Amino acid sequence: MIRLFLASVIFLLFNTFGVAQVKLIALTCENKTNPIDISYAQPKLSWKIISKERNISQVAYQIRVATTPNFNSNSLVWDSKKVTSNISILQPYKGEPLKSQQQYYWQVKVWDNKNRTTNFSETATWETSFLTTNEWKAKWIEPTMQVLPVDDKSPAYMLRKTFSLENKVVFARAYVTSHGFYELSLNGNKVGTELLTPGWTAFQKRLQYQTYDVTNMLKSGDNAVGAFLGEGWYRGSVALLRLKKPIHSSKLGLLCQIYVKYANGKSEWIITDGSWKYTTNGPIIMNQIYDGETYDATREFTNWNNAQFNDSNWKNVQEANYDNSVLVTQDGPKVQNIQELKPIKVFRTPKGLLVADMGQNMVGWIRLRVSGKRGTIVTIRHAEVLDQKGNFYTDNLRRAKATMTYTLKGDGIEVYEPKFTFFGFRYISIEGMDLNADNITGVVVHSNMKPTGTFECSNPLVNQLQSNIQWGQKGNFVDVPTDCPQRDERLGWTGDAQVFARTSAFNYDVSGFFAKWLKDLAADQKKDGSVPPVIPDVLNGLNGNTTGNNPGWGDVAVIVPWTMYLSYGDKQLLESQYASMKGWVDYNSKKIGETYISKQVLGPGDWLYYIPDSISKLSGAKDGFTDKGYIGTAFFAYSTSLLIDAAATLNKKEEVAKYTDLFEKIKVAFNNQYIDAEGRIKPINGKPNDSQTAYVLALMFNLLPQQLQPKAAAYLVEDIKSRGNHLSTGFLGTPYLCHVLTKYGYTDVAYDLLLQKTYPSWLFPVTMGATTIWERWDGQKPDGTFQTPSMNSFNHYAYGAIGDWIYAVVAGIETDPGQPGYKHFYIQPQPTNQLSYVKSSLVSPYGDIKSAWEIKNKTIRLETTIPANTTATITLPKAITVKLDGKPFNKANFKNIKTTEKGLVFDAGSGNYVFEYTY
Ligand code: BGC
Repeated sequence: MIRLFLASVIFLLFNTFGVAQVKLIALTCENKTNPIDISYAQPKLSWKIISKERNISQVAYQIRVATTPNFNSNSLVWDSKKVTSNISILQPYKGEPLKSQQQYYWQVKVWDNKNRTTNFSETATWETSFLTTNEWKAKWIEPTMQVLPVDDKSPAYMLRKTFSLENKVVFARAYVTSHGFYELSLNGNKVGTELLTPGWTAFQKRLQYQTYDVTNMLKSGDNAVGAFLGEGWYRGSVALLRLKKPIHSSKLGLLCQIYVKYANGKSEWIITDGSWKYTTNGPIIMNQIYDGETYDATREFTNWNNAQFNDSNWKNVQEANYDNSVLVTQDGPKVQNIQELKPIKVFRTPKGLLVADMGQNMVGWIRLRVSGKRGTIVTIRHAEVLDQKGNFYTDNLRRAKATMTYTLKGDGIEVYEPKFTFFGFRYISIEGMDLNADNITGVVVHSNMKPTGTFECSNPLVNQLQSNIQWGQKGNFVDVPTDCPQRDERLGWTGDAQVFARTSAFNYDVSGFFAKWLKDLAADQKKDGSVPPVIPDVLNGLNGNTTGNNPGWGDVAVIVPWTMYLSYGDKQLLESQYASMKGWVDYNSKKIGETYISKQVLGPGDWLYYIPDSISKLSGAKDGFTDKGYIGTAFFAYSTSLLIDAAATLNKKEEVAKYTDLFEKIKVAFNNQYIDAEGRIKPINGKPNDSQTAYVLALMFNLLPQQLQPKAAAYLVEDIKSRGNHLSTGFLGTPYLCHVLTKYGYTDVAYDLLLQKTYPSWLFPVTMGATTIWERWDGQKPDGTFQTPSMNSFNHYAYGAIGDWIYAVVAGIETDPGQPGYKHFYIQPQPTNQLSYVKSSLVSPYGDIKSAWEIKNKTIRLETTIPANTTATITLPKAITVKLDGKPFNKANFKNIKTTEKGLVFDAGSGNYVFEYTY
């Protein structure tokens, strides 16, 4: 009893004063948890510190890395010793050179600002794949008879090989990639949970391979490996023009090597080579991203991927030679089955079609579970919306057939889901069989990004908007950021990605996702610095007047790296993208020349800005139009200013000076050309150019002289009011509109826009039942009629860019460029009486941030959490009396306390705080 008592006292003391107050968690290598596919010489290591105490920071750390879990001296490859640093993310490995295919164990300990040292953390691991690209032993293999896809015929190839293993397998890895899509199986089971592999990259320059732990899938004795090969993004008909000729090579192929370690210490490789067999007579008769998949189960080969299968009727593959230096490990998250939905309703449309409503515009496909007569054909088509009369509507899919067809084999319960296509849909039509909800499961597929942001408030419509923004991100982050997931497009449009990147980094951890895509961008960027309109560049100049280099589109090369740097604090990413960023600015500099005024006339401009119904497109009357040269000049200035920030961060002093000079010159030219003495934007060739977007860009990009800024902001507000609190912005103005209003003291107007229910507005689609973000403000009119079908996606994330303002102003969580990755950040919510509460959180690289406020009787309660090893500057707008944790505000808890026109401002250390203030 006494012993127990003593033990509890010691435990209590230990916990109150001892090292246990600071804990280390969430160790990652290259932002991945215990990865097995690291190919970098100096992978970056991160950890999080958690503590219930306030004001905790790290003053030093020590990392140790070994090749055995006991960290004995023989196996130690790095002991960083005590490193004085307050950074707990992305510290590069600096030990002995890493070896390929080696497992590394690592731990970290930290010293905190209260003179305490933690123990070493729990052990985390990483494993290397190949540090160089000449370690590929496998040969590329290709079916000899390659049928170029014609219309409805594009069979998936099946490849296989039997092999025998001499001993018990204790460790096995498969390294796999392909030209086209692949799905690998071992002894009858699919390898891994990844889908749509090997993903989408600038294939000629970068081709991802996947690494799988297959230890438990192999056995001593006879084994079999099998693979399906499909058209995919490599050869399939992808791109606006539905290219008839393949974009890359005309041949699909597979590259796979499996490393096996036996219990007896020996090891061996199973590789793709000329001994593999293939057939084109399998069940997948057609597979195309836009058109769908046709699967005839009567053509299945039972046991084809098991050792006992007789493949004597199958043909021999041929070996092929490709440059393996393009092979890269996968930086971004895997594309996977993320969640499953059941239909909320199965019904007949007025036209008599059997339709299932999934209740959510989703991306992925349907899994069918059916039984019936052999040869029965079930046809599933996909649609995002029903028309005015409630009929199935597919006109907006343009030429994408988006159809999945399954022929039953007729032996009991059959389960089928497609492998090599995906659809964007809320509704499916069912033909050929009467199915009910039990037969149908929606499989939601996207890049498996870790969710990081949450937002909720007292207005259910805004909550639905937040959900729509997140679903827009899910469906369009499928290995590359796409414009839309449903019609015959689904491309990595640069402008869309640029516009939405900041919001996306609140919702999910997109660090790896964009790090990967930015490498493809740099790879596909032209020598002169110009940037293709879509990345990967599958249009390759084929898209008429949108051949890239468009203001707001090409600027992705600068805006996204900078945005990622702010959100994740990865200086190395900025460094590796710097040449690409500079390339784009230099390209513009050269093109625009010494006038500093862009002569842009083509391209999307402020794409899909709002044109009031009563104004004809051609009349030139005042709609939301903004001159393209104006936009070009403004973005030229903006990208230059971000390049200056990047150069300063990377300590490139000369370039800071050079581009600062350039920025100033653009600014002077901009003002001379476009702005009058009263801060109004002048007409161009008699055509008004004083659109909302024009004011927004000038103000957001700091292009106007100080004294004209408030005037310009007032004109913007005037325009909004004159439209009855409506916006008129397109893709380029929308993301900054509310930010500019907040910057100039019009947050109330921004709230009016956010909460506006009639179009154009963010909530109008919500009132129409939208479950994703629409491409257009008026995609479907209140009477149920549609915008023009050729450009009317119901899942286009661009306008979801309001999410950034919602997190950064409504919830008030904002980065600090001086200490990125939320090392220091701002908590500065701007409460409004139009909402009674807001709750928001963000999993930042350092830890979990929280900001939640509530208004009651002129009192605001703000609860905020600042993670250990970070600090925040908190602003309480218009605060009169303030309490902290129910007691009078004690200044000793905070630093740099000031009363400014923004309110009471002060710096806080880590911890959880509850403020109550009157205003
Ligand atoms: C895409 C847009 C894209 C635009 C640019 C459209 O077809 O869907 O989102 O940015 O073209 O021209």
